[in-house]
Order: sequence, then C-alpha cells, then structure tokens
Amino acid sequence: SGPPLDELIAGLTVDVPDHPEPGIVFRDLTPVFADGPAFRRVVDGLAAPALSDPRAAALAGAGAGDRAFDVVAGVEARGFLLAAAVALDAGVGVVPVRKAGKLPRERIAADYALEYGTATLELHTDSVRPGQRVLVVDDVLATGGTLTAAVALVEQLGGVVAAVAVVVELAALGGRQRLAPHTVHALWTT
Ligand code: PRP
Ligand code: ADE
Repeated sequence: SGPPLDELIAGLTVDVPDHPEPGIVFRDLTPVFADGPAFRRVVDGLAAPALSDPRAAALAGAGAGDRAFDVVAGVEARGFLLAAAVALDAGVGVVPVRKAGKLPRERIAADYALEYGTATLELHTDSVRPGQRVLVVDDVLATGGTLTAAVALVEQLGGVVAAVAVVVELAALGGRQRLAPHTVHALWTT
C-alpha cells in the first residue's frame, strides 16, 4: 500500500547541488533511510528480485524458486546501512566491502574512479568462498566505478554475483551498461 516505491523514494530524496564538488548533484537518501515504513519497503525491494529472479537463480546455479544468493556484500559506507538489513530480511549473512585501510586481515584490493574522485575498496579473502552466490548492495549507482570494483573483488575470490541491487540508478552516467552482463536491480531509475 502507499505510493509506488519509485515515487516514494523520489519524494524523500533531497538533491544537493554542488556537493561534494561543483557540478555534482548529490542525491541524499538519508531521509529515505530515516523513514521507518520507507526503509522497510526499500529493504524488501532490494531483496525481492534476487529472491525470485529466475535468470539470477539460473546464473547462480540455483533451482527454480530458490533464493539466488547465499550472502549479501555491502559497499562502505552507505551500502552498509542497506546490506545488513537486506541480509537479515533474507536470512543470510553480510560481508563488508571496505574503503582501504580498514580491514584487519588478509585482503584483496581494487582501485576505482567514481563520479567524484578515486578510491580503493578491499575485501577479506575469507569473506567469499568459491562458488558462493553474492548479492552486491549499495545505495546509488552513478558511473558504476564503485560497484564494478566491488564485483571484481567478489569474482576474484571465486564468488558468483547473483545480482547488483541499488536504491537509485542515475541512468545518464551509464553504470548499468558498465556492469553488464551482471543484472542490476534499481528501485528508482532517474
Ligand atoms: C557513493 C555511493 C556509491 C558510489 C557511486 O559512495 O554510495 O558507493 O558513490 O558512485 P559511482 O557509481 O560513480 O562509483 P562514496 O564513495 O561517496 O562513499 P560513502 O558511501 O562512504 O559516502
Ligand atoms: N555517488 C556518486 N554520485 C552520486 C550522487 N550524484 N549522489 C549521491 N551519491 C553519489
């Protein structure tokens, strides 16, 4: 009940011009997460396609009707807010894809560029086992640099990306094309 999910997200998102640098329109989703009923619908929405998508299930080698992922990977920092909730919702565990220098044990790293700047992501080598099916979650898909790096880390460990799930996709920046052939589920495309 209530408005369509994309309209709900669009209505709560605040556009901030020239943040964090001139020319960037920052999509601030904090009011979406702060709203209990909206957060519930967002979390359910992120998990739902990968719970039921036959293509994701087939890619991941699961039987029809099976949950298509074994674990959720969340991308620091805003992806963490979502990934843990999605994992709890789906009854699986959550692993962190972190910015450089935070993970304490054996890890792999990937450098990347995003809409504003460059950074490095890391993943513990024991966070994903070969053949494990991973749902990769973040808040915003812009250029896709961040999620491409996260996907590469999962795959370097032998993980199978069941799907990528985001709240907002900024379509003009081409992230979906960059992530192909991986399936991208976006709750609001703008
Ligand atoms: C933002 C956002 C995504 C990424 C998307 O994270 O949360 O992770 O940018 O941009 P891209 O598609 O162009 O790569 P940011 O690096 O600002 O970090 P934060 O979550 O710590 O705020
Ligand atoms: N991450 C990359 N580009 C972004 C944007 N325009 N708004 C919010 N997060 C982002």
